[in-house]
Amino acid sequence: MASEDFSGNYMEKARTTKGVADFSPGSMTEFRQLGNGVFEFLTDNGVLLRVSLVDDGVVRFRFTPEGRFERDFSYALDPDFQPEVPVHEVVEFGDGVAIKTGNLSIRINRGGLKTTVTDTNSGVILSQDEKGYHWQENKQYGGEIVKMSKVCQNGEYFYGLGDKSCDLNLRGRRFQMWGSDTYAYTSDTDPLYKNIPFYISLCKGSAHGIFFDNTFRTSFDLGAERPEVTSFFSQGGEMNYYFINGPEPLDVIRRYTRLTGLVNMPPLWTLGYHQCKWSYYPEAVVRNIADGFRSRRIPCDALYLDIDYMDGYRCFTWDAERFPDPKKMVADLEKDGFKTVAIIDPGLKIDPNYPVWQEAYDKNYFCRRQDGALFKGSVWPGLCHFPDFTNPKVRDWWAGLFHDLIAETGIRGIWNDMNEPAVFEEGTFPRDVRHDYDGNPCSHRKAHNIYGMQMVRATQEGLRRHSNGRRTFSITRSAYAGTQRFACAWTGDNVASWEHLNMANLQCQRLASSGISFVGSDVGGFIETPTAELYLRWVQLAVFHPFFRTHSSGDHGDQEPWSFDRKTTELVRDAIELRYQLLPTVYTTFRQYVRDGTPMLRSLPFVDFNNPDAYWRSAEFFFGDHLYVVPIMAEGEEGRFLYLPKGDWFAYHDDSHPKAVAKDIWIECPLDRIPVFVRSGAVIPHWPVQQYVGEVEHPEPELRIWTKNGKEVSEWYEDEGDGQAWKDGGFRESKIRLEGGPGNLSLHREWQGRYEPGYETIHLTFCGIDSEEADIRVVIDEHEQRAVRGDDGRYRVNTHRNFFSVKLEWKPAKKASPKSIGTPGK
Ligand code: NOJ
Repeated sequence: MASEDFSGNYMEKARTTKGVADFSPGSMTEFRQLGNGVFEFLTDNGVLLRVSLVDDGVVRFRFTPEGRFERDFSYALDPDFQPEVPVHEVVEFGDGVAIKTGNLSIRINRGGLKTTVTDTNSGVILSQDEKGYHWQENKQYGGEIVKMSKVCQNGEYFYGLGDKSCDLNLRGRRFQMWGSDTYAYTSDTDPLYKNIPFYISLCKGSAHGIFFDNTFRTSFDLGAERPEVTSFFSQGGEMNYYFINGPEPLDVIRRYTRLTGLVNMPPLWTLGYHQCKWSYYPEAVVRNIADGFRSRRIPCDALYLDIDYMDGYRCFTWDAERFPDPKKMVADLEKDGFKTVAIIDPGLKIDPNYPVWQEAYDKNYFCRRQDGALFKGSVWPGLCHFPDFTNPKVRDWWAGLFHDLIAETGIRGIWNDMNEPAVFEEGTFPRDVRHDYDGNPCSHRKAHNIYGMQMVRATQEGLRRHSNGRRTFSITRSAYAGTQRFACAWTGDNVASWEHLNMANLQCQRLASSGISFVGSDVGGFIETPTAELYLRWVQLAVFHPFFRTHSSGDHGDQEPWSFDRKTTELVRDAIELRYQLLPTVYTTFRQYVRDGTPMLRSLPFVDFNNPDAYWRSAEFFFGDHLYVVPIMAEGEEGRFLYLPKGDWFAYHDDSHPKAVAKDIWIECPLDRIPVFVRSGAVIPHWPVQQYVGEVEHPEPELRIWTKNGKEVSEWYEDEGDGQAWKDGGFRESKIRLEGGPGNLSLHREWQGRYEPGYETIHLTFCGIDSEEADIRVVIDEHEQRAVRGDDGRYRVNTHRNFFSVKLEWKPAKKASPKSIGTPGK
């Protein structure tokens, strides 16, 4: 029987579908050019393939065995994306048809519609069908189980696929997309919470991506069953996928992100440190946590309310005993620099005295089973009904519900949880539950993977509607491709263990390469208690995760920065302060993500893509253009080997300058820092430490400039940190070009945008000048300035906020020997 086994056991499913005939396209009988880059191919057994040149480097393939397509609809694609069909030509030849653009040649064979995509510049084959499109009839549910298989090349490796917790390189593995509530998951657990059916292939320096836009339960086999074959298949829907060109891996990710949605600039406070627990209550506890931060001078921007703030877990209510005056509490916290974020789950308690439930019931907004009964499932409040967020009317109603929380009470962010959707006992909804799917009615088989995305979409709309022009902040646990448009994400219920610290690193990098850069893990681990050292190392890593939040399940020891010993508190404070110093860099990196879709976390193989030695490395990553982060992920690690990629690097903390570019350099890792390297010639904007974003009205930036023998370009983005003016030129986007040689460097700065920063002075710090007592001359905008050398060996000078050029010359008083960063094997 071609039945669907949803146990999650892949082999089991493979067995049950065995013996059912696989169909493949016959011979091409017709080829049509529909114009605007769209082509159709028909076979003698009724298969129709539509190839669309969507945008430069993006080609869509859509198949049906029925000879005609159903309505074209996708939740993943960004409606604001304005693609441009590339210039192209078509060549017919004996065996088939070739469509050629400037960079790609797409050949469709007459026999079986097999496709080959070649890079026209290099002649390299990027992607080639093995069996190509094939399918099985789905006797139980109707429609087809749709499949695609491609040749897996020698030296081809795979990345991406959302939140999978295994090593970055996915070659030789298989995965599923079926969002699941996976409490205490491991590195083998699959599927996890998120469904991002997009992978990146990297083969001998050239990269492409495949995005399989299908929301049914989907599988990817990346050379697992047969090492020479890559396949992806789904339990229903269409074979509808996008080939996304590079040539570089980051180009693939940018193209995918533009297709599925660029994001908005976040409120700047959301990039500060956040503190969460299940749960801080009653009000006195929340206030006490706030005091804990301020009295110890540990910076923090947001405090979270988990489910216990509600009245019996009824969403959009407050427990009046625990929180008698939420508006006042939120306002007091806000005065002290804390934003309050509250959780909202999808399940609404079945309770006629609960107006939210009653209204949704009256309006018929809850999901129903196939025979019409309302679907009931048990979650925190007991038995619940669940809104059908795939119905636009329901989303609109849901958005309206946030009026009180946001506009009246002053809550600044909403955290959507349990939206896979999770249901106790059964795990999720039965497959027969019906959904509107924006006017394409279907069962939960099709809507499951996008349910959470549509929930947080509605939530974000609620925030937008009630925030009076402020930027919005929402968080989601579940996601489908494109969810970045609606929310930031976290990696779910992890454990306080070193393995999970490693997984947090992998998952955040992987989500960033899957279009979701605004991501973080529960710092310290959600389940169980971290040791002081584990907590510290986790905080140090999360300084470089865009979403930086401690969260814990609260049924064990405390997990605030001061919950460990005194020394740890100080070191955690140092790490959080580093984040606040780096906020302008974090913000600039976010801007690149917003503008171009460039991931904020850049895995090593995507930057050092010409070096196959890097393809299996998972730990080290780039934060933005110029910082290279080397996490410490083992207990008692006092040193580690690292891989230093091509380029010239300085140690961020002390400007030591490893001369060799090599694999396996040894560095020492004292507890007080996470090793970070900065690219020579980089300009890294900093701020003074603040206890929260906005504590200082116009913080004076410090640009740290590292020397270089050669050229380097750095970006620096500024705006008012909230509001919508950034969309209309209300920003200052500086490009700083550095050119340097032995004993000299010059900077040229130009900027775009009409934002006038409120500060007068910028501090310039020159790092890595390899000389003691250097005889230094600094000229800024043609005026000579006096630079002062600090104890750290760095030279400092102040200048005006509108400076545009700097020239620096120095003569070493005596040649200092190059500092080493450690001794191999120590
Ligand atoms: C599960 C979430 O993953 C966790 O973060 C949250 O604290 C609990 N639900 C309770 O709301």
